[in-house]
Amino acid sequence: MDNKAEIDSSRLPRHVAIIMDGNGRWARRRGLPRLMGHRSGVKAVRRVIEEARQMGIAFLTLYAFSTENWNRPREEVEGLMELLYEYLEREFDNLKRQEIRLLVIGEIERMPAGLQERLHRVMEETASFEAMTLNLALSYGGRAELARACRKICDAVAQGRLKCSEITPEIISSNLYTAGQPDPDLVIRTSGEMRLSNFLLFQSAYSEIYVTETLWPDFTPEEFRLAIRDYQRRERRFGKV
Ligand code: IPE
Ligand code: IPE
Ligand code: MG
Repeated sequence: MDNKAEIDSSRLPRHVAIIMDGNGRWARRRGLPRLMGHRSGVKAVRRVIEEARQMGIAFLTLYAFSTENWNRPREEVEGLMELLYEYLEREFDNLKRQEIRLLVIGEIERMPAGLQERLHRVMEETASFEAMTLNLALSYGGRAELARACRKICDAVAQGRLKCSEITPEIISSNLYTAGQPDPDLVIRTSGEMRLSNFLLFQSAYSEIYVTETLWPDFTPEEFRLAIRDYQRRERRFGKV
């Protein structure tokens, strides 16, 4: 299916955020271990990043690991961390070639030391790129992010840099991991679940939501364009008539 022509490039979402769900089910249906599903999911990640970049999307956020995902069996967590490490090694040149800036949103300090080091290195070496920002949500939770923003704001008040009466939604926004970025216009979730699972709770207040039954490893650039096309048909009201 080639549906490239159907996208109106003058009305692209500026920020697309994806809950990449369904790797485990993809593997189970094939009688494979869950980790094989995650491995296959990495390929879908590469395809979608390239597609978003080619389309001209300015911000792409990928939910890769939630604060709650730490509660999975140890082998799965370790396997995911290893996969991430390999991914960064393999994709570093690709990201640079595409002039993509990588930003980790989430508790990077909870990642294994070697992975942290590599994440910091990729972030530093891609910091000046402007073609697209890729937010990788790792050990990310919307509630933890809001608690962190509260702590930062409290510090500012305690130090006399801010008054309580000056705290606005904009101040909160500027203390989130996504400070300075537009809110997601479109949130995509694969594998059919109708929930946010602690993803971008503050930022997604007025996001359009697109849920597909497709499991993440089967998610293609064609289906990504389908989601964008669907978004472009919607009427966003933001509380007005
Ligand atoms: C999403 O796939 C990837 C992560 C949360 C790390 P799942 O692993 O949640 O797959 P299902 O939901 O069990 O199918
Ligand atoms: C959401 O998927 C988190 C990521 C995709 C990283 P989960 O599989 O963890 O969400 P629940 O448990 O179905 O809500
Ligand atoms: Mg899941």
